[in-house]
Amino acid sequence: MTGVPGLDELIEGGFRRGQVISVSGTSGSGKTTFAVQFLVNGAMMYNEPGLYITLGEQKKQIFANMLRYGWDLKKLEEDKKILFVEYPPYEIEVFLSQEVVIRDSVEMVGVKRLVIDPVSSLLMGYGDEQKRRERLLRLLERLRSLGCTSLMTSESGGIDAKVPLGKFEVELFSDGIIYLYNKKKESRRQRGLEVIKLRGTKHSSKTCPIEFTDHGIEVYSNKEF
Ligand SMILES: Nc1ncnc2c1ncn2[C@@H]1O[C@H](COP(=O)(O)OP(=O)(O)OP(=O)(O)O)[C@@H](O)[C@H]1O
Ligand SMILES: [Mg+2]
Repeated sequence: MTGVPGLDELIEGGFRRGQVISVSGTSGSGKTTFAVQFLVNGAMMYNEPGLYITLGEQKKQIFANMLRYGWDLKKLEEDKKILFVEYPPYEIEVFLSQEVVIRDSVEMVGVKRLVIDPVSSLLMGYGDEQKRRERLLRLLERLRSLGCTSLMTSESGGIDAKVPLGKFEVELFSDGIIYLYNKKKESRRQRGLEVIKLRGTKHSSKTCPIEFTDHGIEVYSNKEF
């Protein structure tokens, strides 16, 4: 169960263990919020420890922003319910060389939910498409073998495309795509969520409106987007 109100009923109860899911959307569409909420729910509702790897926003900024939803990430980290690791873009190489460390912490704490936000940071450094794809496939293989459920966030603006893909097309290789909309309608923007794919699951085909409430994201499955 993701524990995100309104979402699990759209996806037959939640993501499956071992799946790697892309969380995509334009800048500011709520990818980080969704990913943090997935880990907070795991830690607080399902006794599933999490690991958050931030390759973009600073950890302390995420901690401050997420307090708005009542999520005390500092406390969750102290209690070893969610581990946060931060690699600034110039240290991605360090991250790549430390995948063993990640595996160790996953095993030590019993991590069941993992987030990489945004995954594009890992792939940016490869000018060569072939190398980048190899890198991505290796990452996916490692993630699947960790035995956690993983979310990778990726920015993608191609709402008008049949399947909106980010720059590095990580969505093609993931087991599922959750697409977050922040779409302009007349003078306002409306937020929404669509399950574009989820392998092995008879999921809803409906784009649902979402709201950022005081408790995080809520999905309204019986309203129209
Ligand atoms: N308390 C709040 N209530 C409602 N909306 C909020 C609140 N806090 C932030 N937002 C909205 O959510 C957006 C940030 O969401 P988030 O950081 O999860 O998006 P993102 O897709 O990860 O963005 P980025 O592409 O910059 O990483 C803000 O830009 C703002 O529009
Ligand atoms: Mg973000």
